[in-house]
Amino acid sequence: MTDAAFQKCINPDCAAEFDCGQAIFKCPQCGELLDARYNWDKIEVPGKFSDLAKRWAGRDNRLDFSGVWRFRELLNFCPDKYKVTIGEGQTILQQNDSVAKYVDMKPGRLYLQYEGLNPSGSFKDNGMAAAFSHAKMIGASSSACASTGNTSASVALYAHSCGLKCTVLIGSGRIAFGKLSQAMDYGAQTIQILGDFDDCMRHVQDVCTKLGLYLLNSLNPFRLEGQKTIMYRIIEQMGWTTPDWIVVPGGNLGNSSAFGKAFYELKQLGLIERIPRIAIINATGADTLTDLVNNKKLTWNDGKVDQKIIDDYYADLTARNFSPHTCASAIEISRPVNLKKCLRTIDICNGVVRAVTDEEICDAKAIVGKYGLGCEPASAATIAGLKHLRAEGVIAADERVACVLTGHPLKDPGVTVNYHKEKQGQFSNAPVEAPNKLDEIIELIKS
Ligand code: F0G
Repeated sequence: MTDAAFQKCINPDCAAEFDCGQAIFKCPQCGELLDARYNWDKIEVPGKFSDLAKRWAGRDNRLDFSGVWRFRELLNFCPDKYKVTIGEGQTILQQNDSVAKYVDMKPGRLYLQYEGLNPSGSFKDNGMAAAFSHAKMIGASSSACASTGNTSASVALYAHSCGLKCTVLIGSGRIAFGKLSQAMDYGAQTIQILGDFDDCMRHVQDVCTKLGLYLLNSLNPFRLEGQKTIMYRIIEQMGWTTPDWIVVPGGNLGNSSAFGKAFYELKQLGLIERIPRIAIINATGADTLTDLVNNKKLTWNDGKVDQKIIDDYYADLTARNFSPHTCASAIEISRPVNLKKCLRTIDICNGVVRAVTDEEICDAKAIVGKYGLGCEPASAATIAGLKHLRAEGVIAADERVACVLTGHPLKDPGVTVNYHKEKQGQFSNAPVEAPNKLDEIIELIKS
């Protein structure tokens, strides 16, 4: 453990503090979420953010190579000897004018952050590098998570690379095949539950408490510390400047929570001048955050969140036997565990929330596929959401926008193949049947 870090309850009326040697994940006193916090005066924080650029020269040092740990001063909760890395965070920020045109932005202003380039194909690896380091530090031997797919793939990969056992809970029939194949291939004990993600999330917390397993969902504050680095890498790739907007999909709301914390800390440390705004994008079939923020007017309110609004909302979901549905299975979640931290991010970043339809998601995904490096459906919600926000005039055509493309296109080939083969959308690119004859194949190509 370092004496520079501690855990703190986000509820201002409680504000209990705990050391980092415990895996508790919710405040034992009031049940609220916990943050990883730092005594910054005990940490050698770089004078300028760009000072960290020198780490690029040290490619033979595994911690400098990691896109998470080369920013280690900003997530300084464990000594180097426990730090886990398998080369996460070698991601690309691509300026993309064709996608910019699709959303009606000026050339040179839209950037796509490809987190699908991580070892397990999604942004989760940033979080797992950090969380498994904490697990090693406290001597955990077995781990577990609930997942819509990517968390399970990432947990399975990291658990076995650092010698922990792992169990993943997934909703039966609710997970894309690319992700399911990874969990099995990487050797996780894979339990398919006859329920949805929210059911799995509820069960995994009890399982971890009863069996003493280390929990790797984004309730784990150390996981979110790793996910802060996605923002650091965007800033790094923009020449150590901040964009005007970050656009991110919203599921369990771990990313959005981590990003707001990242910007708050950077500003507090004087490493950035201005905090970007954030847009969090739900799918319409799983739009709890959008409904609560835009319609029920739920806010962070200095930490005094109106719990009754949330309780009434969830009671209504239960009464209606509601289960979320969207083709973006990664974000098919109706009870996001990081809701309150996300509200804090909206407050810090002057954020907005929108929901987009499956049709809009699939069209946007086809555009990222055709003109970019591709992404999975949940990731494309960012582009669809940005299109809305441009049409509304909330985001201007010449603002600098970075969309976080959270997962690789091969994660969910089913949605892609259906969209194109079944001509489901305006950008469908269906394969053409040809007889087994050369001249007819040539005629087809010429036509
Ligand atoms: N995009 C992808 C590709 C995801 O896998 C997820 C979440 C999200 C976006 C939403 O991110 O939860 O931070 O708001 N997937 C989780 C999982 C829930 O189990 O793989 P969030």
